[in-house]
Amino acid sequence: MKTIRKISDSIYYLGANDRRLSLFENLFPLDNGVSYNSYFIDDEKTALADTVDRFVADPFFENLEYLLKGRKLDYLIVHHMEPDHAANMGRLIEMYPEMKVVCSMKANQMIQQFFGADLGDRAIIVKDGDSLSLGKHKLHFVTAAMVHWPEVIMSWEESTGILFSADAFGAFGALDGRIFNDEIAIDEGWWSEARRYYANIVGKYGLQVQAVLKKAANLDVKMIAPLHGPVWRKDIADFIGKYDLWSRYQPEEKGVLIAYASMYGNTESAANALALALADRGVDKLEVRDVSVTDVSELISLAWKYSHIVIAAPTYNMNMHPKMEHFVMDMKHLNLQNRAVSLIENGSWAPAVIKVASEILSSMKNMRILEEKISIKSALHSIQPIEKMADEIVEDMKNN
Ligand code: FEO
Repeated sequence: MKTIRKISDSIYYLGANDRRLSLFENLFPLDNGVSYNSYFIDDEKTALADTVDRFVADPFFENLEYLLKGRKLDYLIVHHMEPDHAANMGRLIEMYPEMKVVCSMKANQMIQQFFGADLGDRAIIVKDGDSLSLGKHKLHFVTAAMVHWPEVIMSWEESTGILFSADAFGAFGALDGRIFNDEIAIDEGWWSEARRYYANIVGKYGLQVQAVLKKAANLDVKMIAPLHGPVWRKDIADFIGKYDLWSRYQPEEKGVLIAYASMYGNTESAANALALALADRGVDKLEVRDVSVTDVSELISLAWKYSHIVIAAPTYNMNMHPKMEHFVMDMKHLNLQNRAVSLIENGSWAPAVIKVASEILSSMKNMRILEEKISIKSALHSIQPIEKMADEIVEDMKNN
């Protein structure tokens, strides 16, 4: 049974969905699965852009066979070597002994690492400025090292303006037959998942994303074909605009994420009081999350979205509550920058969160710790410090 769609006259989508996978990279929760996108170019020479994860190999090979119609596969274009896209390469290399593998130098090394296969002269190593003609189609290669692996390349197809963008411009979520962005609701829920994907997987490499965006600006991109999520053929500038913001670590919204940890409800109570005080002052972009029951990837996505972050946590082993420590350290590892942070600590005998969190935040780039800090001894009995913190956050939002 073929499960393909055309994305241009002779370029086909032959990706596959995995709706059974609960953790992407065995790490990130998936509520609605994920798609692994692969593309076939039907020309004088046949070319396949990437493969799919091993869990969805069967429909992929069935589709490929259907599209080849008995011809041989001339080229495999390897944009990215992570096994969610490259898992079936070893099998392809054996199935099509005349197939050339078009990839970066680094990818060629990784093919040996993953599959023990020395491609020899079957490998065509490409770099910026190189191109490959298939007949009517011509691919131009753009290196994209560290977006988000070192071997990544993108390619731009001249006759259609399609940019094969590797993981960039990808998103979590299976595709329900509607593979184009104009066929689905690109609403806040969708952006939230795209941001969660970007921030957690690519977020650390903002500088490298900026470099690729500059190169892509010189291309007439009419469609973006990523390795996950929908193919963008409409409002491309919207997604590029988000990538530009996200990779410069600039918030999307002036707003507040209140992230709290609480063992017995006292720190939670302070977090809720602050949320009410902020809402009272007209802050409408405001989200409160319990870090113990919210996946850290969701917290990271919200940290990427908002200009202001409140960290409220009890002390644990002279450190932050472990769930909060995970969140704060993840922000650091992912290189988040340019946020204002307010701190609330709780400790019945030796509160330590303000000190520990301040040290971590100070080691990050342009994370401003606001003046008003609240140190709770067991429980908060006055609203005054909350009111002062809310005033300061609102004032800071006006001025920054
Ligand atoms: Fe979708 Fe980096 O693999």
